[in-house]
Amino acid sequence: MTSPAHAATSARTGSQILDGMIGHAPAMAEVYRLTHQVAATPATVLLLGETGTGKELVARALHELSTRSSGPFIRVNCGALSESLLESELFGHVKGAFTNAFENRTGRFEAAHGGTIFLDEINSMSFTLQVKLLRVLQEQEFERVGDSKTIRVDCRIVAATNRDLTDEIEAGRFREDLYYRLNVVPIYLPPLRERVDDIPLLVQYFTKRYAAAMGRTIPKISDDVFTLLKSYAWPGNVRELQNYVERSLVLCSNELITPDLYPPHTRGLAPIRLGRAKGGSLQTMCSELVTLGITEAGEDSSEVHERVVSLVERELILQVLRTCQGIQTKAATRLGINRNTLHKKIEDYHLEGEAR
Ligand SMILES: Nc1ncnc2c1ncn2[C@@H]1O[C@H](COP(=O)(O)OP(=O)(O)O)[C@@H](O)[C@H]1O
Ligand SMILES: [Mg+2]
Repeated sequence: MTSPAHAATSARTGSQILDGMIGHAPAMAEVYRLTHQVAATPATVLLLGETGTGKELVARALHELSTRSSGPFIRVNCGALSESLLESELFGHVKGAFTNAFENRTGRFEAAHGGTIFLDEINSMSFTLQVKLLRVLQEQEFERVGDSKTIRVDCRIVAATNRDLTDEIEAGRFREDLYYRLNVVPIYLPPLRERVDDIPLLVQYFTKRYAAAMGRTIPKISDDVFTLLKSYAWPGNVRELQNYVERSLVLCSNELITPDLYPPHTRGLAPIRLGRAKGGSLQTMCSELVTLGITEAGEDSSEVHERVVSLVERELILQVLRTCQGIQTKAATRLGINRNTLHKKIEDYHLEGEAR
């Protein structure tokens, strides 16, 4: 196994020290160091970080670098299944345990015996299942759904969360005792926007990979591309970057990758991530607005800013008018603008039907 000291040095030189992981930002060096250090131990590991930051890659590396590497690596996405399906997925069930249980079924914990089980999106697990999981962590035992026979397993548990579990505890959605059991060795994967110096390395790495997969020569990447990508906020982190690199190769018809081959929202808008709104991120909304603004502004790109701002302004006025039941004096006060100004804007944006 690579020693932690070696891992840190290689990380600084930017070489690949965890299988498939690129980057040498200081925060990543800490990830590599910890991964190497804890892989050989049986300790439970909790991976923390936004979506697409590389938690699954680290979970796999923990397995590969461990003495269990010849055993199975089993991943379960706790966020993808309902409570009862997840319970039988994890622990198995016996025939007749519930309506559709026509056969006995082995759960994923049993399948992971001698290896590693990776519980992804652990923050989504229900309170009831959390109790059952706590017992596996404490006693390495459980029962299949509908059975009284106790099963013992020997598997290493690696869990991942994209939410702050202490917030979840405060909100009453996560058990504190389970948190302490899981949080033996936490490894934090920093968001890509906090390691922008790694972006060129990642872009080159993915460009090479996709070019090879497409059987074409590796195109050159213009410097503007790196400048652009370093100022984007990357809400989807490395996964998002990977997708855009693939897209740029698909769209590239010559041997040079230029910024226009990247999606519009990576080019024109707010580099700061303002947090996700329910039902669609602010960034997605902005990117749609920019696309719409470009379409509406036609050939004249100098009009894009004005178009986008007026699209936002029209929507804002429309919504405030609706919440104020069309009463203009009320809407003007709420918007903090003069009543005459509002009246003029209503005319400009043809919102007369909404106002009274
Ligand atoms: N440091 C990295 N170097 C290379 N590829 C990475 C890196 N981090 C993430 N990836 C890639 O980005 C994608 C998302 O990573 P993943 O481990 O699934 O993230 P998470 O589990 O945090 O959502 C995967 O395709 C993965 O291979
Ligand atoms: Mg993931």
